[in-house]
Amino acid sequence: MFGIYSRLRRVFHKPRPYRSIAIECTDRCNLLCVTCPRLSYDYKPRDLTMEAFKKLVPALKNYDNVDLTGWGEPMLHKQVYDMIRISHKQGCTAGFITNATLLDDKRGRKLLEAEINWMFVSIDGADPGTFSSIRVGGDLGKVIKNVRHFVKLREEYRTPTYNGPFLSTTFTMNRANFEEVPEFVALASDVGFDQIHIKNQDVVSKKEDIEQILFPFSDDQPAIPYDELESKFAQARLIAQELGARLLLPTFEYGTIDICNPMQQGGTYVAATGDVSPCVNLGHPTPRMMPDGSTIENSGLSFGNINEDPYETIWNNPEWGKFRDEFNNGIVPKACEGCQLLRKSEFHLTEGVETKTADLKSVPA
Ligand SMILES: C[S@@+](CC[C@H](N)C(=O)[O-])C[C@H]1O[C@@H](n2cnc3c(N)ncnc32)[C@H](O)[C@@H]1O
Ligand code: SF4
Repeated sequence: MFGIYSRLRRVFHKPRPYRSIAIECTDRCNLLCVTCPRLSYDYKPRDLTMEAFKKLVPALKNYDNVDLTGWGEPMLHKQVYDMIRISHKQGCTAGFITNATLLDDKRGRKLLEAEINWMFVSIDGADPGTFSSIRVGGDLGKVIKNVRHFVKLREEYRTPTYNGPFLSTTFTMNRANFEEVPEFVALASDVGFDQIHIKNQDVVSKKEDIEQILFPFSDDQPAIPYDELESKFAQARLIAQELGARLLLPTFEYGTIDICNPMQQGGTYVAATGDVSPCVNLGHPTPRMMPDGSTIENSGLSFGNINEDPYETIWNNPEWGKFRDEFNNGIVPKACEGCQLLRKSEFHLTEGVETKTADLKSVPA
């Protein structure tokens, strides 16, 4: 059976209405990253049940990809491997973003046996001290050791039909770590990542975030060190070129146009609670800092809960239809006011992926 779904996917794959569905398999986490929006509100951590995941199966044929990430650590969910397999059976690729603290030999093999298609590893520093000051509870040495081992395992599991997962880093850049970007590019390339993705800390959910972010947001924020950033980016580009590494650097053109990255991907987010929302920010009551220093208390936006209703009923909720309709007509829905992701100018999964805006007429069968 090994590789059969990859083969079938290639032979029978037809374009689907949407690029990706985000299904948060858990909102539990083993780290306390200072940047993390999940620490800006109170909640009771939980896993998405397999029963709830299975109720999403009829919807999956409308998406190319299943992203098992949310505000939590996907590798804490014991059945994440089954979720990947089920996604494959519906013709989707599947993967997640991880802190890789749990990526040991046993779990690495289980992911490869499930034929995971992509994995992004979050590493926010090249220096162990910087890393631990941001990824509180994490250890850079351990993460690097885990990924180096996984890169070797990936070779072992490669077959003519399964090439192993596309492996990227994701470095959430802010004032505390941007100077380490060139050093990080050298490190990540040596570890064997296929891609080095440097992105902005772009979710601003508490006052302290305004001190840290590196994109124009408020008159009260410290001046952005553009010259130093330019110089570090130039060094990073040079190192990437010399090492033949694929490097994605963030742009600084924030706040120009309303483009919502989650809506471009498909605008579907299922939280670990089972609540179905358009995106991660509305799937949780993540507060939103505003440029004038005020806070929008976001109560979240759920169109239904998969534990209670079939997906089709939720999809056909007139309120969700109205939300999609507004987006399709260039109107920013009220619930999106102040969202930083709306002005995000970089892609979540891979650069250059063709993305689609949700279409009101496409209803899951
Ligand atoms: C919330 S985490 C969940 C997955 C996993 N626990 C991890 O850390 O990779 C998903 C991604 O969001 C990033 N992130 C954390 N805080 C952020 C912020 N304020 N703005 C943008 N991205 C952030 C993380 O670094 C990580 O790459
Ligand atoms: S590891 Fe991921 S989910 Fe956990 S606190 Fe850090 S950023 Fe948040």
